[in-house]
Amino acid sequence: MAQEDVFKKVVSHCKEYGFVFPSSDIYDGLGAVYDYGQNGVEMKNNIKQYWWQSMVLMHENIVGIDSAIFMHPTIWKASGHVDAFNDPLIDNRDSKKRYRADVLIEEQIAKYEEKIEKEVAKARKRFGEAFDEAKYRETSPKVAEEQAKRDALHERYSKAMNAMDLDELRQIILDEQIVCPISGTRNWTEVRQFNLMFKTEMGSTADGASTIYLRPETAQGIFVNYLNVQKTGRMKIPFGIAQIGKAFRNEIVARQFIFRMREFEQMEMQFFIKPGTELDWFDKWRKTRMAWHQNLGFGAENYRFHDHEKLAHYANAATDIEFKMPFGFKEVEGIHSRTNFDLSQHEKFSGKSIKYFDPELNESYTPYVIETSIGVDRMFLSVICHSYQEEQLENGETRVVLRLPAALAPVKLAVMPLTKKDGLPEKAREIIDDLKFHFNCQYDEKDSIGKRYRRQDAIGTPYCVTVDHQSLEDNTVTIRFRDTMEQERVNINELLGIIEDKVSITSLLKKLK
Ligand code: GAP
Repeated sequence: MAQEDVFKKVVSHCKEYGFVFPSSDIYDGLGAVYDYGQNGVEMKNNIKQYWWQSMVLMHENIVGIDSAIFMHPTIWKASGHVDAFNDPLIDNRDSKKRYRADVLIEEQIAKYEEKIEKEVAKARKRFGEAFDEAKYRETSPKVAEEQAKRDALHERYSKAMNAMDLDELRQIILDEQIVCPISGTRNWTEVRQFNLMFKTEMGSTADGASTIYLRPETAQGIFVNYLNVQKTGRMKIPFGIAQIGKAFRNEIVARQFIFRMREFEQMEMQFFIKPGTELDWFDKWRKTRMAWHQNLGFGAENYRFHDHEKLAHYANAATDIEFKMPFGFKEVEGIHSRTNFDLSQHEKFSGKSIKYFDPELNESYTPYVIETSIGVDRMFLSVICHSYQEEQLENGETRVVLRLPAALAPVKLAVMPLTKKDGLPEKAREIIDDLKFHFNCQYDEKDSIGKRYRRQDAIGTPYCVTVDHQSLEDNTVTIRFRDTMEQERVNINELLGIIEDKVSITSLLKKLK
């Protein structure tokens, strides 16, 4: 199946099975805003748990907070977001559509890369087993030609972005003959900067309302609580503060479902360190975070680092962890060495000293920071895209199955009475009443057992249990495993032991090195 088709199927599957709905659906939705349904919220909570526990439970020097979304407006002046949190935008005069100039150029770079991959795929088909891919990539004139075009464009684009040269960005779009996908024309306006923060007002106008912002990142809530946490928790450097919460950005190119949203959730951790040690800590957190992702078992080949060439205004090193989505490798998490930029700025703007007295060095300094920042929604998207599979069964039927890591699955166990009578529903409910304290169970008695299995496969339930007449006699049930579809007869008293450990977040954490 083509990757675009997989993505379309995932999007409609998410709606059909209660994972993700368009926001305000009965009013035809609201652009780039989504709601999580009954299964989506469970899976999202599991992802958050996995992250939170790996940070806060597994590190005795990391603690959590939950700061407010509304913050003093000067914070955003201090952080640089009022002046520098911009996207370069360009309009097409014919379609009246607005685009991010950087995204148009990045898509053009991706087109050259696709052409190279197509050439390689064609050659692979032509030469079969004897194909030496590395040699072909080195020697093919066609590949060399496309690679040269790609590299030249990439270099020009990087320079323009680093200098934020808006005229040059426009010139690149014209020189590359990039057309508007709607009108098909090259009738482009100038490129302008557009600030991504949402504004609102606090207080009534009579009292003198002040403009405040919906936070575009959760990190600033951590920075402005640094002193509170350090003092009340008697924290010693190095230490970290973790937070999960909503963030808001007025994204202009909001596409690809929950990949780029206007309201989304972040899981961020700021790790406060001694100046001069930042590159060692950056390297450590880079490795730690990649291990956290790969621990889900999706295959190392589906991840890569992308080191930033253009650094954000606060960073002296930065990398992204990218995951192979159906629409290509995309950023899921950023790891940034933010220097002491944020704390120094808040010292300056608030007039309060944010120094740390280091008892070992007998000196005070403004701590440096390594940040790990991951989007919950992007993580959710990567998990569901990777897990979605359509399988051809021996009887000719197709089964749609979400091969979710069991610890992330919304429902862990479905309990199904074979029929709705003879005391089987009561027996099934007894099992649930016992196990529901340990993990999420679902009772299902409607339709044939085959249909019920399909429904549970479609939401990724790792275990199903069928209660039949024999269960009433000998207290045994049939347990069916999602991935292999194998079935086993077991005693009801064994269920907890078989299931609990495999579906727990603890099982994932224990696998982390
Ligand atoms: N505090 C640093 C920061 O916010 P970022 O790279 O802008 O850095 C971090 O964002 C992560 O937040 C991204 O890697 C991504 O997973 C998520 N994210 C950012 N913008 C998003 C959006 N519009 N929709 C969904 N997730 C987004």
